[in-house]
Order: sequence, then C-alpha cells, then structure tokens
Amino acid sequence: MKFTILNGSPKGAESVTMQYILYIKKKHPEHEYEIINIAQTIKKIENDKNRFNNIINKVRESDGVIWGFPLYVMLVCSQYKRFIELIFERNVEAAFENKYTIVISTSIHFYDHTAQNYMHSICDDLGMKYVGNYPADSWDLLYPKRRARWLVFAEEFINHIENNFPTSKHYTPLNWRAFTYAPGEVLDDSKKIDTHGKKILLVSDETSENTNLGKMIEKFKESFSDKIEVINLDDIDIKGGCISCLQCGYDHKCSYIGKDGFIDFWEKIVMTSDILIFAGVIKDRYLSAQWKMALDRAFYMTHTPTLIGKQMGYIISGPLSQIPNLTEMFQGHIELQGSNFVDIITDEFGTSEELDALLHDFARKLVTFSNTDYFKPLTFLGEGGRKIFRDDIYGRNRFVFMADHEYYEKHGYYDTFPQNDERAKKLNAKLIPLIKIDKVRNKMNMKQEFLRPFLKVLEDPNK
Ligand SMILES: Cc1cc2nc3c(=O)[nH]c(=O)nc-3n(C[C@H](O)[C@H](O)[C@H](O)COP(=O)(O)O)c2cc1C
Repeated sequence: MKFTILNGSPKGAESVTMQYILYIKKKHPEHEYEIINIAQTIKKIENDKNRFNNIINKVRESDGVIWGFPLYVMLVCSQYKRFIELIFERNVEAAFENKYTIVISTSIHFYDHTAQNYMHSICDDLGMKYVGNYPADSWDLLYPKRRARWLVFAEEFINHIENNFPTSKHYTPLNWRAFTYAPGEVLDDSKKIDTHGKKILLVSDETSENTNLGKMIEKFKESFSDKIEVINLDDIDIKGGCISCLQCGYDHKCSYIGKDGFIDFWEKIVMTSDILIFAGVIKDRYLSAQWKMALDRAFYMTHTPTLIGKQMGYIISGPLSQIPNLTEMFQGHIELQGSNFVDIITDEFGTSEELDALLHDFARKLVTFSNTDYFKPLTFLGEGGRKIFRDDIYGRNRFVFMADHEYYEKHGYYDTFPQNDERAKKLNAKLIPLIKIDKVRNKMNMKQEFLRPFLKVLEDPNK
C-alpha cells in the first residue's frame, strides 16, 4: 500500500511528529511511505506550480493520506494552513476525494482538540474518508503502552483501507449568506463614543473598503469621537512563519529579530493598546494563513501573555456561527492572554441597519468596560489552558522554556497549585477528620455547610 504523509512541521525531517510515522514504517515495512515536508517548503510549493502539482499527484496515486502536524497556537501552523488554502484555491480537491485518511498531531494537549476539529472539517470538506484522529502527546512514543496504542490506531487505518470499511462524516459544507452590507449615514458627532483617551487598535488583513468586512471596519471606526488606529497585516514586514527554532524559549528573543518588522509591530503597536479588535474574513474553517502567521509569530513570548488587561473582540465576515470551533479559539486565546473577551460581530445575521447598531454598541461596550476595568471570570477555556501551561513549564518543559519559568515564578503562577492553597489546607485539616466519623457525617447537612461562608458575606453590611 502507498501512503502519502503530509508533514505539517516547519522542522521538516527533524519533526517529532514524523517519528510517529517512522515508527509505523518500522513496524510495517511492507508498505510504501512518502513523507512530504509541506510546512518547511511552503514558499517553494506555492511559487512553483510543478512542485505543487507533483504533491497533488502523489496524493492522487496513494491508497491513504496521513496528515501529520505539530500544534501551533490552537491549530496547524500558518505554513500548513497555506497549503490547505492552496488546495481549494487551485481547485484540486478531487485528488483528495474518497481517499482514506487519518490525522495525527503532537503537542502538550493545549487546544489539540480545536486543531483536530479543524483538520477533521477540512477532510470532510475535501470529501475524504476520515478514519479518525490521533492527538498524541509529544512524548507518547517514549512509553511502551502509548506506542502500542498508536500502533493499534495505525493498523486500524490500514484495516479500513484493505477492507474498504465505511467512514462517517461530521461536518456539513459551510453556507455563506448572500448579503451585501450597506452602511447607513455617518453618525453626527453628538452620538459618537468618547474614547476617554484610550488607545484603540484594529488589526485586519482586509485590503479593500468595498467588501462587507471593509465596510464594517469603516463603520466601526466612525463610531468613535477620535480617530482610532487601523493596521493592515499586509503593511507589516513579516518575512515568514514561526520556524520552531525555539531560541525564544530561553529569553523570549525571536530569531527573526533584526530580520523583519513583526516584533516591533507587536510590541510597539499591539501591546501598547487598551482596546484591541481583530478583523478578518473566514477562509476555509479559520481566518487567513496570513492571520495565522501573525499569531504564530507572537509565540516568541511562548507561554506568557502579551495582551494582558485589554478589552478585546472580533469583527468577522463569514459563517462563523457554523464554526463553533473557531469561536472557541477566539475566546480561549483572549482569555489566556488575560484580556476581556467583549464580543464578536459578524455579517451573518440581520439587516444593514441592525449591523450598524451592533457595531456602534460594540464600540460603546469596549470603551465602557475599559473605563470600568471590567474583566469577566475565565471559563474553562482560559482556566484549563493556564493549568496545562503551568504544569508543563514547572515540569518537563522547564529547561526549554526558562523565560516562561522565570515569568511564572515572578507572577505567582505556581502559587495556584492546589497544594499551596492555604485556605483549602486549613479547611481540609479541620473537616477531613470530622467527615470520617460516621455520626458526624450522617448528621452533617452538606448543603448548609456549603452556604455558611456565603451567609457571612450576605449578612455583613460592610461587604
Ligand atoms: C509556535 C509554536 C506554537 C505551539 N503551539 C502549541 C499549542 O497551541 N498547543 C500545544 O499543545 N503545543 C503547542 N506547541 C508545541 C508543539 O506542538 C509540540 O512541541 C510538537 O510536538 C512539535 O512537533 P514537531 O517536532 O513535529 O514540530 C507549539 C510549538 C510552537 C513552536
């Protein structure tokens, strides 16, 4: 059998993920394995049509396709994303249609589900026979039981192809609404939102003012009494995507320093804003690869937040409500950055007048929350993610990410370990011996015990 492996790691052959493929090759040498370094050579693939077509031909001739990639900021890396875009832009979906496929990712399990959901939906969009995904931890291959588990999964893939087993679909095609946004009259000055001196920044990759997104951005800008800053990613000198050299792990210094303008843009423009809005058009099941590149490049600060204390939101054109996976990434990213997730405005619903009103109110909310310093509590998306980072940096990845470790120590991240929770320690020391006594336990009214500290707050006139 012939397998084509589309390698989504910018490290190419030095990829951890590819070791999982080599392991299957070692166990099943009777098959042919062609690994293509997609992410590492994306510029050449994009610029050289022959090279691209050769890859597509290999896909066409194979019995099974394996998508293998490292997690990059909740998704695949921008280079791999660009390859996926090219498949649709160059209308070569047919090469993938009805091919059996699996998806393997390696990561520390931080938002691996969103990346896997994304790839699953892409496989469904391409009409592939999706057998399943394997969200490995980067180190899984080092443990016998986990190796065995991976082998079972890979053999099930082979089994599927040999027996022509059926596969299920999970995603229906996206449905774009036919709607042209026609913004209303410019508001008179009395209705404009006072910015209260806040620095408001909108970053987008939209280059036209005549698209729905272009018009939404213009309308949003008009809502404010002062001029707000609008930056286009096209105008930023970004030489390329993150190459995973991990130089930044030691001191948060990117190897692109002095080579392009991204760090200056991020630190001098993005990080200094009080209110930050990202805007983009849905491209396949995410934003553009260009947007992804910017977010990947911001990883030079690795697992520390760079957008702390901002009011943030999105303006999106396209069927976002049909991609809850993407909304989850937006929200999770903002929560992890320590910013407040205010809202997402899209052109999916309502009339142009309603969209005018929504954009205006979005502007109002952003400024109001900024003035009142309002930050809503984190959901699982932020809480869970922070805990994964904290444990990983404290533990096995400390030597790689020394700069994060220093930051976490300085900012009390490790104080959040439950074994350091003094209040919980005292409570458990007092109550655990009591709860072990049958008589006490049977008499105890747990509901009332839970409420006791709350009553103190409610009854105290000073609280
Ligand atoms: C820019 C960048 C972003 C990353 N983002 C994530 C992430 O969102 N979630 C995660 O669990 N791991 C993340 N990782 C860790 C890698 O996914 C992980 O180390 C992977 O095993 C590397 O595989 P590779 O050697 O095949 O490239 C990131 C690494 C880099 C360099």
